[in-house]
Amino acid sequence: MSGDNKIWIFDTTLRDGEQALRASLSQKQKIQLAHAIARLKVDVMEVGFPVSSPGDFDSVQRIAREVKGPVICGLARAVAADIEACGEALKDAERRRIHTFIATSPLHLQYKLRKTLAQASEQAVAAIKLASRYTDDIEFSCEDAGRTPIDDLCWIIERAINAGATTINIPDTVGYTIPNEFAAIISTLRNKVPNIDKARLSVHCHNDLGLAVANSISAIQAGARQIECTVNGIGERAGNCSLEEVAMIINTRKDIFAPLYTDIKTTEIYRSSHLVSQICNMPIQPNKAIVGENAFAHSSGIHQDGVLKAQNTYEIMAPEQVGIRQNELNLTSRSGRHVIQHRLAELGYTKDDYDLEAVYKSFVALADQKGRVFDYDLEALVFFENMQEQNDYYALEFLSSSTHTGHIASATVGLRCGDQLFTEAATGNGPVEAAFSAIARISKLQIKMVDFNLQAKGSGEDALGQVDIIAEHEGRRFHGAGLATDIVRSSVLAYVHVLNMIQRAQTIDAHKHAQKHTREHAREKNTLKIAAGDQQ
Ligand code: KIV
Ligand code: ZN
Repeated sequence: MSGDNKIWIFDTTLRDGEQALRASLSQKQKIQLAHAIARLKVDVMEVGFPVSSPGDFDSVQRIAREVKGPVICGLARAVAADIEACGEALKDAERRRIHTFIATSPLHLQYKLRKTLAQASEQAVAAIKLASRYTDDIEFSCEDAGRTPIDDLCWIIERAINAGATTINIPDTVGYTIPNEFAAIISTLRNKVPNIDKARLSVHCHNDLGLAVANSISAIQAGARQIECTVNGIGERAGNCSLEEVAMIINTRKDIFAPLYTDIKTTEIYRSSHLVSQICNMPIQPNKAIVGENAFAHSSGIHQDGVLKAQNTYEIMAPEQVGIRQNELNLTSRSGRHVIQHRLAELGYTKDDYDLEAVYKSFVALADQKGRVFDYDLEALVFFENMQEQNDYYALEFLSSSTHTGHIASATVGLRCGDQLFTEAATGNGPVEAAFSAIARISKLQIKMVDFNLQAKGSGEDALGQVDIIAEHEGRRFHGAGLATDIVRSSVLAYVHVLNMIQRAQTIDAHKHAQKHTREHAREKNTLKIAAGDQQ
């Protein structure tokens, strides 16, 4: 199977990527990202670890029901409860895959699992057989394969394939290997595992030494046919292999890689990258390959001159190939709905991605404030419009703040909580602190600020200010974001967003608790009935 020319792209942004975030995503955010990743035309999407929490189970289930196109995959340790939860969560997917794993390196076997390789293999075989009751698409990973002796790897993989694994994944879990070493692992597996042709060989590289992309590329040259990666390379520690980089390497260097190809729709790269960055609160470094702000910017005079004469003097790919489009439209408050819709379509947004009325209303308000509205403003409006959930419990009604050099600042906040309006005033060292104190008095929730980050969206003094907050409440972390021309307002909107995230989490918990109670009650009634039957 490793002989064909298509390189399968297995996206794990919503699993390996999500597990590394400082605040977990809401279900709505995960669905939004899942749709964006599906539009990239990835082959497989790993969207969660269903047994890890009821929230993860629910979002995997919803994505499995809703997102069409790629194979939807869930992660499971090689234990029955994990496989069962995964199989159950994925059951409504058009196409589903269970990805099960166990560690195989001496270090992990001895200290983490306290098992022998033979015991791990037995456990893996049992898990694969159980998974085959739910699907015939089963992936098996040897965790820490990069540090597993090659003969051990060959031995366990042969058994996993015999048990029914259809994809064999080789993770460099700690990002330790270097390209020729990793390629040699793949070549040896292909030469030494007798049944290797019955499975697709996959690689999953971490970036601890900055080699995740290089290792993945070397692996496909050695015969691997699936690359596991994430948008912007987000993931545990230094992250995973970056999807956009491998896709563009294979696409740009056809002279080397053809006939190998991926099905990635490269024009979706820029948009999905920015969405992941926004939603996951993971800024993109400006010099990041493919999607960084400077990736296509030419600063030196010599380079600018060269590009004007012939684009390929200093550009090996065109920005349009990754979905960056130049804007010739001047968007002002006089621009109509159809112009906004047209520009958003050029930026890659379909009508289903946003509510035109809502975005247009915010656009006009912003254009009145700023004069000209740029693409990044428009994209930010769509992003923030989508962030609003229906029936938000908390809403900012009004805000006034004042600050004078050398004096304490003060703020008055009007906050709608359900159908009631509360007003509070407070003082602080600055207007943001004062406004936060006023909100805290109204909500009465114990919230600890873990991180506060302010960034300008756009350039010049009329740039929008985006505030991202990470806040802790009862041991859980929540991410809130706010956008406005006035940074005190952005901060307050981010705080209100956090309050809504907490409120939603509490509602879900209460619902889960009630369901559990009903199930227990039903079980109890059933037991009583059976006991009564026994006595008759
Ligand atoms: O890095 C790793 O080993 C993993 C496995 C679960 C595939 O993420
Ligand atoms: Zn990983």
